[in-house]
Amino acid sequence: MSYKRISYEIKNKYAYIGFGYNCDKAMTVLDEESLRELRDIVNEASAEEKNIDGVIFHSHKKDCFLAGADIKLISAMKTESEGAHGAEQGQIIFNVIEDLKVPSIACVNGVCLGGGTELSLSCSMIICSDNTKTQMGLPEVKLGIIPGFGGTFRMPKKVGLPTALDLILTGKSLNARKAKRVGIADGVYPKERLLTMALNHLKKQDKKQSIKESLGHFAADNFLSRKIIFQKARENVLKKTKGFYQAPLKILDVMEAGMMKSRTGYLAGEAQAFGELCVGEQSKNLQHLFFLMEATKKYKGLKAENDIPILKRGAALGAGTMGGGIAWLMAETDMAPILKDLTPEALELGLKQSAANFLGQMKRKKMSYDQFERKQRTISPELTYDSFGQVDLVIEAIVENINIKKSVFAEVEKHVSKSCVLTSNTSSLSVEEMSTALEYPERFAGLHFFNPVNRMPLVEIVTHSKVAPETIEALYSWCLKAKKKPVVVADGPGFLVNRILMPYLNEVGFLLKEGVSMKDVDDACLNFGMPMGPCRLLDEIGLDVGVKVAKILHEGLGDRAATSDLSQVVVDKGFLGKKNKKGFYLYDEKGKVTGVNEEVQKLLPSENIKMSETDIQMRVFLPMINEASIILDEKIVSKASDVDLGLIFGIGFPPFRGGLLKYADSQGLDRILEVIEKFSNTVNDKRYNACDYLKNLVDKKMKFYDI
Ligand SMILES: NC(=O)c1ccc[n+]([C@@H]2O[C@H](COP(=O)([O-])OP(=O)(O)OC[C@H]3O[C@@H](n4cnc5c(N)ncnc54)[C@H](O)[C@@H]3O)[C@@H](O)[C@H]2O)c1
Repeated sequence: MSYKRISYEIKNKYAYIGFGYNCDKAMTVLDEESLRELRDIVNEASAEEKNIDGVIFHSHKKDCFLAGADIKLISAMKTESEGAHGAEQGQIIFNVIEDLKVPSIACVNGVCLGGGTELSLSCSMIICSDNTKTQMGLPEVKLGIIPGFGGTFRMPKKVGLPTALDLILTGKSLNARKAKRVGIADGVYPKERLLTMALNHLKKQDKKQSIKESLGHFAADNFLSRKIIFQKARENVLKKTKGFYQAPLKILDVMEAGMMKSRTGYLAGEAQAFGELCVGEQSKNLQHLFFLMEATKKYKGLKAENDIPILKRGAALGAGTMGGGIAWLMAETDMAPILKDLTPEALELGLKQSAANFLGQMKRKKMSYDQFERKQRTISPELTYDSFGQVDLVIEAIVENINIKKSVFAEVEKHVSKSCVLTSNTSSLSVEEMSTALEYPERFAGLHFFNPVNRMPLVEIVTHSKVAPETIEALYSWCLKAKKKPVVVADGPGFLVNRILMPYLNEVGFLLKEGVSMKDVDDACLNFGMPMGPCRLLDEIGLDVGVKVAKILHEGLGDRAATSDLSQVVVDKGFLGKKNKKGFYLYDEKGKVTGVNEEVQKLLPSENIKMSETDIQMRVFLPMINEASIILDEKIVSKASDVDLGLIFGIGFPPFRGGLLKYADSQGLDRILEVIEKFSNTVNDKRYNACDYLKNLVDKKMKFYDI
């Protein structure tokens, strides 16, 4: 029989099954057609098993073995039984592989995730190539689902229960070396020798259990230790996810119950759980986020007409909080950056910041000491612009003052080449205005990083009227290369994220002044899924910084962005937040909260009022939704998904809600509008003034994501 998507041939008594055949995409996934073909092929190989000595799974792609099941297939599932049936179809195929009477081997070269890893686990052996792109893992939990093709059944058998739980519950992927270390891979070989080594393994059929594996099984075979392992895993999950995520808890239920069952019984439980999870709202939101992130991998703005500059060498201007982080990022991405400041002392601080980031990576075993030293040494600290002629990208992160920034840019322009892209990390100043200082404004844009640069994925690329599409494209691809999440936004007060964050933080001030307690406000937001309560967040940002930004936004946006004077009063008392250990909360030397700041409490009403958690949530999140609607109306960003990505990656808006506007859509915009109008009458008619964009959507019975 001939196949279109997967190659199948028998050579010297070995069956070769090759993925990524006749396929022009870099990544191969199991879609409906390839699953059908795989089923027919493994059935054919099984029927042939008397005439063959082994089965070899391999790939025709340079960097991909099998990237897993097609997420579109999962997202198209409408009912639990449809989902469970889909999982069963995969399980049946992988059972046939596992039940082959001849040995089978997966030759993993490149990406091998989800269904790819599950297929490999059903083989008698797995070998990996030393290709840096090789990675194995079961990331399903990140999509709010359980591995459904037998992964939860086979992974513990291969690597032992504790390691399997770690891999399945975190969804992390491992490179070839680590896959070998934990026992997923039975060998790692140069890419060119993978098929030869596969034959050697099959001929020897020498798959021995590693010590780790036997220990894992020993632990798992003992009822009591198994109980303890699951209990610990459950505690860890609850601690990490605060119970917001259903999938990891479901995975634990399935695995624990399955330990007592036969393969058939176990897999039935896995398929049923897959069905339940994949159609649930949480998984649908995480799938939605997956597609949004896929879409950001390509810039879809105005097409550039000229060559897009490639940004190889960089310079960070200003070595403060942000400049040090930016120099680190440039060194990390091999840009051999220049770090420029006014004094050697300031440069020293910037270099320290970069070294601290590298040391953090070393601690997390992401780099060796040699790599740290080599990368850190590529940063050239300088006090002049003499070497700026060699750089392709300048990121300015000096004091937030428009006149100083303009005069610095005018100076920088004299020293850089014509093709050099110039950017400002300003968080509140007008990029349009800044561009007027330049002779060639077309190669200038805002490039707004979030603090700390090494941990915050979002970067806002801020446009202005004269910027060239080539500049935006160059910055967009540079951000992707630097593993950041870029969002292109138009110039305007607070750009995208800070502008939507501000009404949220402002409203907290009003709630506190009305007598709602700090704890109730923070708890309501934490229980919504925010990574920290807004009072804690204000302390983290710095209350003085918050006051400054709030003033700028009030000036730019008018009455609806009015603030309570609470933060200002707190700042006047000398409480700046975590940085001086006193803000809304008190902090110890290590920055840990030790309690509420009673001095701030004294500034608030002595009698607390009780407000329901839902009411607090509505009070703080609805102004954000309204502001996001105005932002869409003003075309600061072009679509709802930009808002959602910005907030998820910029402030940690809970991913399981799919983003602010996805959440609004799920609640019903008519309901949202009704509550805003109610608050307009009962709380404040400026801060809760529903915008026309939102009203229009409701009139037309549309959602944010319909546009
Ligand atoms: N700190 C944040 O959380 C944050 C977040 C996003 C954006 N930003 C923006 O980043 C920029 C820098 O902020 P920061 O917090 O890093 O400031 P910072 O005060 O920590 O550092 C500014 C540095 O710039 C140096 N500097 C001043 N004038 C200079 C000049 N002419 N040439 C070279 N260096 C000069 C100063 O010596 C100082 O080291 C600002 O525009 C700010 O709005 C800050």
